Amino acid sequence: MPTLFDPIEVGRLTCPNRIWMAPLTRGRATRDHVPTDLMSTYYAQRASAGLIISEATGISVEGSGWPYAGGLWTAAQVAHWRNVTDAVHGAGGRIFAQLWHMGRLVHPSLHDAQPVSASATTAPGKAHTYDGRHAYVQARALTLAEIPRLVGDYAAAARNAIAAGFDGVQLHAANGYLIDQFLRDNSNQRTDAYGGSVENRIRLLREVVAALVDAVGGARTAVRLSPNGESQGVDDSNQAALFPQAAAALNDFGIAFLELREPGPNGTFGKSDRPPVAPLIRKVFNGVLVLNSDYDFARGQAELAAGGADAIAFGRKFLANPDLPHRFAADLPLNSDDPKTWYSQGPEGYVTYPTAS
Ligand SMILES: Cc1cc2nc3c(=O)[nH]c(=O)nc-3n(C[C@H](O)[C@H](O)[C@H](O)COP(=O)(O)O)c2cc1C
Repeated sequence: MPTLFDPIEVGRLTCPNRIWMAPLTRGRATRDHVPTDLMSTYYAQRASAGLIISEATGISVEGSGWPYAGGLWTAAQVAHWRNVTDAVHGAGGRIFAQLWHMGRLVHPSLHDAQPVSASATTAPGKAHTYDGRHAYVQARALTLAEIPRLVGDYAAAARNAIAAGFDGVQLHAANGYLIDQFLRDNSNQRTDAYGGSVENRIRLLREVVAALVDAVGGARTAVRLSPNGESQGVDDSNQAALFPQAAAALNDFGIAFLELREPGPNGTFGKSDRPPVAPLIRKVFNGVLVLNSDYDFARGQAELAAGGADAIAFGRKFLANPDLPHRFAADLPLNSDDPKTWYSQGPEGYVTYPTAS
């Protein structure tokens, strides 16, 4: 069985290790969702990851609802992402762009439009806006006529990602965002071909992945799911039926990898009492499988040794330790992350975490 330090082929890439950086929203772009020089520095600092998965990046005005998050729908955004990818590649790294449509979690104060979702539902809790936290508003259901345009928006963002120098794209189908709102039966109340049966609820996922593969190739397409339990109000009555079927549907496309975020009962970024679906998915998904949530070195190593995964994605540990693979290899202590600077603007808590000497 491989160790975290063994290389792995992923699509057209050879990743030098299996210690990957999980996608992390950090809010360091401009108000027009254009990446900044600070972002080039931050990602280049983390180039020793086997693979970096970028922060969630908006595919369109409609889908973008996080203050100062990056986007991939304008020429200026693409040009500035090119600086980031050049910096990562110059430092010897590899980076996929995570493609994001937030669906009902887009607050109208960001774009002055009612958010869209599978159905007319309202997320619990409060949105991050430029003006503090505000309650979410009710979404409107996307019409059948709008879905081809939505799928096209994902494909256009994927083409833009490749034009910006990314090594591939990861569809964000996790954490209660738009694709997840279609997947799960408490947020998808549709009675058309996109709602009801599991087959129907995974239709949008399948169509978007097909469009991404058509746009940039299966070797440059990946997916993230968060199967076990509630996420931002989105939940399913039978996760053990839904998610293995969704993962098996991805076999048709020869994607680069599938990543799963599954917190446990004592999770420190979300918790779930439901069992992980990863063991079921491992049996039916025939590509590279990456697991995430609360892993440390020993648990990650044990997961690979047991054959449960091919790589592990580390979120907060990479956020706070730019040289995480080196620290693991040399058994060095880790910096801990400071939640106060997760989404703050500026360099503090972003590019200021020290590397080990
Ligand atoms: C500050 C922060 C930002 C995050 N942003 C994203 C994101 O943009 N996309 C995503 O899929 N998950 C996001 N997550 C979830 C992480 O990718 C990961 O699932 C979570 O941190 C658990 O992994 P860890 O225990 O290794 O940190 C974020 C988590 C944190 C702490």
